[in-house]
Amino acid sequence: MSKSRIKTVFLCSSCGDQFAKWNGQCPSCNEWGTLGEFKVNTKSRSRSNGQTKNPSNLDDVLKDGILKSQTTGIREVDRVLGGGILPGSMILLGGSPGIGKSTLALQIIPGLKYNVLYVSAEESEEQLALRAERLNISTDKIHLSTENNVELIIEQLALISPKLLIIDSIQNIFSNNVESIAGSPSQIRDCGQQLLAVAKQNKISIIVIGHVTKEGIIAGPRMLEHMVDTVLYLEGDSRFDHRILRSIKNRFGTTNEVGIFQMNEHGLNEVSNPSEYFLAERTLEVPGSAIFPALEGTRPLLVEVQALVSSANFGTPQRNSNGLDYKRLSMLLAVLEKRIGMSIGAKDVFINLVGGFHISDPSTDLAVIIAVASSAKDFIIPNNTVLAGEVGLSGELRSVPNMNKRVKESEALGFTNIIIPESNLKRMKKSDYKIKISGFQNVKEVLNHLF
Ligand code: TYD
Ligand code: MG
Repeated sequence: MSKSRIKTVFLCSSCGDQFAKWNGQCPSCNEWGTLGEFKVNTKSRSRSNGQTKNPSNLDDVLKDGILKSQTTGIREVDRVLGGGILPGSMILLGGSPGIGKSTLALQIIPGLKYNVLYVSAEESEEQLALRAERLNISTDKIHLSTENNVELIIEQLALISPKLLIIDSIQNIFSNNVESIAGSPSQIRDCGQQLLAVAKQNKISIIVIGHVTKEGIIAGPRMLEHMVDTVLYLEGDSRFDHRILRSIKNRFGTTNEVGIFQMNEHGLNEVSNPSEYFLAERTLEVPGSAIFPALEGTRPLLVEVQALVSSANFGTPQRNSNGLDYKRLSMLLAVLEKRIGMSIGAKDVFINLVGGFHISDPSTDLAVIIAVASSAKDFIIPNNTVLAGEVGLSGELRSVPNMNKRVKESEALGFTNIIIPESNLKRMKKSDYKIKISGFQNVKEVLNHLF
């Protein structure tokens, strides 16, 4: 007989670890002020009376057949998943509220060849059906449920035998084992564990949707990251209509892979040529605009950076950076001032990465510094030219990884010149490319070459 008793524990809302005593700082993840008190119903977990499962033999498992992943039919999603959805895997789909998680979850269903149970614990069946209609999804494979008790959801699985269960969202379901409200760390953890057990035992895949803010402040679902096989985040800026699906963790594929979508009235659409898409509204023949090949995951992506340098009229000059690390910008401005002798100390400087990107890749340095110089001196960077390279404190150009991919992408988009660090060029064969590649050792040489 399993005994149950109520126990008080302290759970960390950041990592989900459990402690017997309260602490100001979580002993596991070192976050401050994240431990909260919870009452949990602890059932005795002993599995005696002859139920012990025999460990499996590896050969037998192999003979039973390795499970194949099922493609969703949406290439950008499959790429991020590492091929498709693997039976028995649990996937966390996170993102800020309103970014398009439910839309994406619904859109992958028609491409799958099996029954799906979509548990909508946030919206009514009618709301979900309306969205499906708007997305032009009609399939008899989707079963809807608005149940929000995890034990009952698991019972419903037996009625429909779906191969995929979608939980929308984990913050809105609760377990009978825990005496706190839905969405609390202990609820999320218990529900997560029960779902994981079902996924592994019954070989069904589960997509768990969780609301997470940009900084991961609503920490609840983040602690599921340790539990699940795959963690995907849907990112974007509400001012723009593109969305980036990023894999943060993947037991079955590479991480750091991204899928790019555009949201319109018919849901999320794949953007198969992102560089072209993001350069569509590019400003030509204007000082201060430069193009650089960033890497999003393993994928090159050409992005425009704009700089505006103007005389500061009042007091302290402004430094404003959209999409670029502010400290990095300050460093690049100091290099321009000290190493190149360009006086911008008294000027206002504005930087904008077009399309709402946030890029921390130092390979943007060269394009940023040249864009600032271009705006300050009113020179135009030729619009057939791309710049890539990291800038060091003495104005030297440092090599960046995956240069061949960046060069190939620039070539594919019709650019005819690319400026890169000499150290990168040494390791490349110019004859492999049609685009003209120029290598330089420092920022001064690049400026002399361009202007
Ligand atoms: P939703 O999938 O509900 O976001 P989440 O589940 O992450 O909270 O998407 C919400 C937004 O997407 C909403 O503001 C409306 C917009 N949207 C479209 O622009 N086109 C569409 O076809 C759909 C279904 C939603
Ligand atoms: Mg939703």
